[in-house]
This record gives sequence, structure tokens and C-alpha cells, in this order.
Amino acid sequence: MKTVSIKELFAADKTAEKISVQGWVKTRRDLKTQSFAELNDGSTRKNLQIVIDNTREEFKSVLPEIINGASVLVEGDLVLSPAQGQKYELLAGKIILYGPCPQETYPIQKKKTSDEFLRTVAHLRPRTNKYASMLRIRSELSFAVHKYFRDNGFFYVHTPIITSSDCEGAGQMFNVSSFDLSKRENLPLNEKGVTDFSKELFGRRTFLTVSGQMEGESLALALGKIYTFGPTFRAENSNTYRHAAEFWMIEPEMAFYDVFDDMDLAEDFVKNITKHILENCAEDVDLFAKFLDKTLPETLKNVTENVYERLAYTDAVKILEKENDKFELKVSWGTDLSSEHERFLTEKYFKKPVIMYNKPKNVAAFYMKLNDDEKTVRGMDLLVPRIGELIGGAERENRLDVLERKMKDFKMDAVGYWWYMDLRRFGSVPHAGFGLGFERMMMLVTGISNIRDVTAYPRVPGCAEF
Ligand code: 4AD
Ligand code: MG
Repeated sequence: MKTVSIKELFAADKTAEKISVQGWVKTRRDLKTQSFAELNDGSTRKNLQIVIDNTREEFKSVLPEIINGASVLVEGDLVLSPAQGQKYELLAGKIILYGPCPQETYPIQKKKTSDEFLRTVAHLRPRTNKYASMLRIRSELSFAVHKYFRDNGFFYVHTPIITSSDCEGAGQMFNVSSFDLSKRENLPLNEKGVTDFSKELFGRRTFLTVSGQMEGESLALALGKIYTFGPTFRAENSNTYRHAAEFWMIEPEMAFYDVFDDMDLAEDFVKNITKHILENCAEDVDLFAKFLDKTLPETLKNVTENVYERLAYTDAVKILEKENDKFELKVSWGTDLSSEHERFLTEKYFKKPVIMYNKPKNVAAFYMKLNDDEKTVRGMDLLVPRIGELIGGAERENRLDVLERKMKDFKMDAVGYWWYMDLRRFGSVPHAGFGLGFERMMMLVTGISNIRDVTAYPRVPGCAEF
């Protein structure tokens, strides 16, 4: 017999058909001659009601096992349901118990549990309504990203995960080594007595990438418009609601774009993928709007319908300086703005997304194009309510001499970046790009307030158990 998913079943008219479904029981309640079980198979937020004639001899032994968490196959007739709030129900003809679920030890109980507790059972939390909805949205959001770029003439490229260069120059890289690190005496030393990385598998010291941007630039300077969508890593020991040590980043890079073209793309992209989620995941978004964040529909409307504010850093500082009594970190020109300032601008002051540009060069990455004032760079950040920075990007410094000068200012060793400089030696063009943190985008569209809960297995300080 054909097994159908619950999603399929609700989408098409399958009544008067004998079908079978498979999934996990959520609840069961018993009346005198009938029992009702709610079954979910993960394909949709909806449960299917299973009606069991509990007077039938063959169901007597299995019935007590039809409880929260148990996995079953049910065969039967699908009929229109007389009950309110559900279209169909399944009259059980046959029930096969795949796996019982002992209630005394099963961590996922019907009652409300905390996010903190659920993180300790990350392998089972996808069985809860909240995490299943989150994961379905995450899947659809990934698809939306690819669809947007494909529809707009971008090529999807894959940049390396193991790299020898630090794109952000922030020294937050995880080491990748082929050495046996369990004993110090295993490490080969050079004549100066320090680790000899030339003995590494790659013949050099390597790290997990913090960004695919530099390789992305080289590909954009051949293909025109590209994007990456892959995991990136930051070995920063920050325990915040919006930082993870492993996160996915989407990085478009475009030849012949300046920073304003870059902003236009960022705004259009965020609006488009948010709309895609509203149109394709209404049921799952509704769960978050009902049970987690009542303001979610408003936030999503704000993000999709407003024209984003464009604000030069210098003007942002003028606004923030007046509010300094509110901030832990006081602002003056040159301050590297933090989440409290970003959120003030987008949530309280403009009440909509803000694109801030022309940062001081000292608080910006080395590759951002220097403005004629020699003080600011053509970087831009997209700030959104509840999160702060969602996107960081820039027009790239495409002048070889200026880039060399800046790398010197940043005390960077330019030798390893020879190939990046080559892009400015041979057929250099104006170009720009940005990086959008996928988990932060997930936080925006779900209203989930902690980055640990928008991915199945978060990697944050102290957490890599699963
Ligand atoms: O601003 P960032 O560091 O920019 C870059 O890496 C550039 N190379 C991107 C580019 O221009 N191609 O990071 C970009 C975005 C941030 O705006 C944020 O959304 C996210 O990546 N991000 C993080 N997300 C989660 N955890 C972290 N530790 C993050 N660090 C950055
Ligand atoms: Mg940034």
C-alpha cells in the first residue's frame, strides 16, 4: 500500500482511499469505544488524527504503546473529519508499532520545556513543534537564496573551507592541522625551535575559512556575478545571542558594482527571501507568531515593505552621541558600533532597516575601498530590528597601490596575499559584495531570539557535543 506524507495528504483530496501513514505519535486520548491519536511525520506542522476502535481485539496490546514519541505505521481509510479544525482523519485498520517510547525517560514531554533544556537534547528537539517548524523554514530559506540568485543571473560557486589566508584580518581562525596534536613531541620543529608548518600536508599552515570573499572576488572577476553559500568559522570566544563559531554565510560578489549598487542588491535580496518565506511557510511562521513573538508579522512587514534608511556613519554618530546616556559603550566618531547602537538606530530611531555606510577606515576590514577623504571606507552594514547587523559588505579596494598601502597600515604580511593583489594587477575592475549571516536571517524570519536555536546543532563556546 502507498504510504503518503501528511503534507501530501492534506494538499490533495485522498478521501475514500485506503492509505498508510508513518510517523511519531504526539498524544492519545481514550473514550469508551474509540481512541484518538495525533500523528505527525515532520512533513508539515499539521497532525493527522488517527481514530482507533479500542474494542477491537487486535488493538488491545498495541494501544497502551500509542503514546507521545512512539513511532508507528497506520493503515486505514481516510475520511472527512466531523471534528472542527481538521479536514481529514484516518480510521485505523492496522497499526504497526516500529518503536515504543518509554515515557519515564523520554526527554521530550508534552509540557512546555525551556530552550536551554532542549539544547541538551539537540538530537531529539527536532521532534518538537518549534524546532520542526524552524528546520522546515531553514530548508525553504536555503532554497529561496538559491532561487533569488539564479533568477538574477548569478553563478553559484564553491570556495574552499580550508584556507591559508585570513580574509577579515581579525585573527579569529581555527587551525587545521594534519599533525598529531596529542603529544608535543610529535610536532616537527624548525631550526628556530618553533613548529615547522612546511611539514604540514599542505606544505603550510592552514585554517578554517572565516569568509569565502577573497576567492569569491577572483571568481566574480571572471564570471561577473557570483555567490557562495557555505559554512564559515570564527574562533571568537563570544557568548552572545547572535554569534556562533560555525555559521553559514551567503556572499554575493559582483564585478562593476559600486557600494550603492551593493546596497540596492542587499535590500532587494533580503526583501525577496523574506517574502518567499511568508508565501511558502505561512503555517510554520504562524507558529512563531502565535507562541513566540507576537510582533513577528509586524517585523516581517517592516522588512518587506519599507524603503531602507541609508545613513552615513558620521550621521549615525551624530544621532547616537545625543543618546550616550543610554549606552554601555559611549559613542564618538571612530567608535566601532556594537549591537546596542545598531539596534537603537533600527528599532528605536528609524523603526525600519538601516544601511549604514562610510565607516572609519580604522574599524573596517583592509579590503574596503578608501574614500577620497582618506578617513572613511566604502563599507556598508545592513541593520535590522531585533538583530542589529545582518549584512556586512563593501566596495572592494581595486587600486593596487592603495591596497598595498592599507595592508602596510594594518601591519599585514602581504606576501601570502600575492594572488589577491594579482586581481588588481590584471584587468582590475570596480567590484563589490557582501556577506549575509544565514542564522541571523533565520532569527529575523522566525522571531527566535538566540542563534543556538536556529540551527540543528549549534557550535558556540563550550558546545560541540552532538
Ligand atoms: O561582517 P562580516 O564579518 O563580513 C565578512 O565576513 C565579509 N567578508 C563578507 C563579504 O563582504 N563577503 O560577516 C558578514 C555577516 C555579518 O553581517 C553577520 O550577519 C554574519 O556574517 N556573522 C555571523 N553570524 C553568526 N555568528 C558569527 N560569529 C558571525 N560573524 C559574522
Ligand atoms: Mg561585519
